[in-house]
Amino acid sequence: MLSYSVPTIAILGGTGKEGPGLALRWASAGVQIIIGSRQVEKAEATAAELNLRLGTTMIRGLENSQAARQADLSVLTVVQSAHQATLESLVDDLQGKILVDATARVDFRDPRPPSPPAAARLAQQILGPGVRVVAAFQNVPSHALKKNLGQSLDTDVLVCADDLQAADEVIRLAEAGGMRGYYAGGLDNAVVVEGLTSILISLNAHYGVKTASIGITGIPR
Ligand SMILES: NC(=O)c1ccc[n+]([C@@H]2O[C@H](COP(=O)([O-])OP(=O)(O)OC[C@H]3O[C@@H](n4cnc5c(N)ncnc54)[C@H](OP(=O)(O)O)[C@@H]3O)[C@@H](O)[C@H]2O)c1
Repeated sequence: MLSYSVPTIAILGGTGKEGPGLALRWASAGVQIIIGSRQVEKAEATAAELNLRLGTTMIRGLENSQAARQADLSVLTVVQSAHQATLESLVDDLQGKILVDATARVDFRDPRPPSPPAAARLAQQILGPGVRVVAAFQNVPSHALKKNLGQSLDTDVLVCADDLQAADEVIRLAEAGGMRGYYAGGLDNAVVVEGLTSILISLNAHYGVKTASIGITGIPR
C-alpha cells in the first residue's frame, strides 16, 4: 500500500492496451481508478475484468468526460489518432487538474520519430493554462505492465512537465506502479521521449521481444 495520499486517477481511453496495464499496477497499490471510454458499458466491462483479476473493487468505469470530472488526475491513453479530438472534448472537464499524456505518435509498422511539437505540448495548447500537463509513460510497454503484477517493473519513466510539482506527483505515481520515475525537463522534451518509442519498436522487432524499455544510469537513488 502507498505511504502517501494519492488522488483518484481516471484513465481516459482506458479500455485499450496501455490503459488497463496502468490501471492494474495502480489499483494493486491501493489507488482508486476510473476507466474512461467513449461508451460507459465498455468502460464498465474493462473495470469488471480488471477487478476480477485483482480480486478488488478499486476500479470503476465511466464515460470519458465523467471520468475526467470525478478524478483529480487523468491519464490519456486514447489511440494516437484520437488525441486532439479527445482533448478538445474534455477541455472543461479537466480544468484545475493534472493531465498525464502517455501518447507516443509512432506507427509500429513504420517507426519513425515524430516531429515537434510534442503531443503533450499540443495537449497543453488545447487545454490551456488551467490544466497542468505532464508527459509520461510513453515508453512503458503494455505487455510489461500486465505481467508479474506483484513485482517491480524493470523500466524507467521519463517525466516531462513545465510544472515541477505536477511532475513530482507523477513520479510518485510511477513509483507506486513499480517503475522508477525521473524528471526529464520541460514539456517540449517530451517529443524526444516519444521518439524513443521508435527505437524501442525497432529493438522489439530485431530481438523478437515485446518488452524493450529504457533505463537511466548515473543518478544515485
Ligand atoms: N500499447 C503500448 O504498449 C503503449 C505504450 C506506451 C504508450 N502508449 C500510448 O498509449 C496510447 C494508447 O495506446 P494503446 O495501444 O492502448 O491504444 P489502443 O488500444 O489502440 O486504443 C486505446 C483506446 O483508444 C480509444 N479510442 C479508439 N478510437 C478512438 C476515437 N476515435 N476517439 C476516442 N477514443 C478512441 C478506445 O477506447 P474506447 O473505444 O473505449 O473509447 C481504445 O480502447 C497511445 O497514444 C500510445 O502511443 C501505448
